[in-house]
Amino acid sequence: MTAKGGFARMTEATSAPFTERFMPPRLTPAIDPRSVDDLMDRPQKIVATGVNFFYGSHQALHDVTLHIPQHCVTALIGPSGCGKSTFLRCLNRMNDMIEGTRVEGEILLDDIDIYRPRTDVVELRKRVGIIFQKSNPFPKSIYDNVAYGPRVAGIRQRSELAEIVENSLRRSALWEEVSDRLSESALKLSGGQQQRLCIARALATDPDVLLMDEPASALDPKSTARIEDLIFELKDTYTIIIVTHNMQQAARVSDQTAFFYEGRLVEAGATTDVFTKPRQRQTEEYITGRFG
Ligand SMILES: Nc1ncnc2c1ncn2[C@@H]1O[C@H](COP(=O)(O)OP(=O)(O)OP(=O)(O)O)[C@@H](O)[C@H]1O
Ligand SMILES: [Mg+2]
Repeated sequence: MTAKGGFARMTEATSAPFTERFMPPRLTPAIDPRSVDDLMDRPQKIVATGVNFFYGSHQALHDVTLHIPQHCVTALIGPSGCGKSTFLRCLNRMNDMIEGTRVEGEILLDDIDIYRPRTDVVELRKRVGIIFQKSNPFPKSIYDNVAYGPRVAGIRQRSELAEIVENSLRRSALWEEVSDRLSESALKLSGGQQQRLCIARALATDPDVLLMDEPASALDPKSTARIEDLIFELKDTYTIIIVTHNMQQAARVSDQTAFFYEGRLVEAGATTDVFTKPRQRQTEEYITGRFG
């Protein structure tokens, strides 16, 4: 479902209250967002200040300042090409891998600048895991996919690895479905299961932050609902930042929403506020499906 089409259908000729418009009937109970006060009171897990980002001479981010509260879900929304993925990848320095790129500004994770020269980038990416739109399990067994990160980190003891694998699969709500076939190829799993496996793989390195770049956009509604429920469960333990084109999804799963447009952060705030009383005209036009 496209953001535009989907949202327009939901809002057409309706004066239904926010919860009914954005929380359509679900397979599972609706998610309670954290309250606005709660959002303000939380410690800031990530503080990005004045971030500019360049692909060669092309500037993809302009002076982005955004605070990410701990144990909340922050949704990044905005039309294609506005810089959501670029910003997300700045948060664990994934963009470093792209030649000719340059970042300016400051990004603090727990008050420490992740771009300072002595940052251990491998360690950073363990603490700030990322899940992509297209699930990308390794062509290995289910077990070996989840054990991959811990093994790279030097964990060799079988019992310890087994415990990490089981815990990670339980936390990603996949254990019940795969516990009796851990040695089978991960590629035999369904798309939704593969995505939860990728989440388990990220959880196995014991991160604090999970970045998700359109994690459900390739999935059917039932698998999408499972991922959304999972996000809700995980936010008690992790800080989550999700890119989505699906306005209903942003409204359902996130506590904070940040709207990007042409490389700039136009507006960020509590999700209920951004969707019901956006401060900027561009935000309103986007969330009501008038462009994008
Ligand atoms: N590897 C790259 N090399 C050069 N330019 C890039 C690269 N990746 C992204 N860009 C450019 O940076 C801008 C922001 O792209 P980005 O992928 O962050 O947008 P997005 O908001 O995630 O879009 P979408 O919703 O389509 O995924 C775009 O103009 C894009 O063309
Ligand atoms: Mg993107």
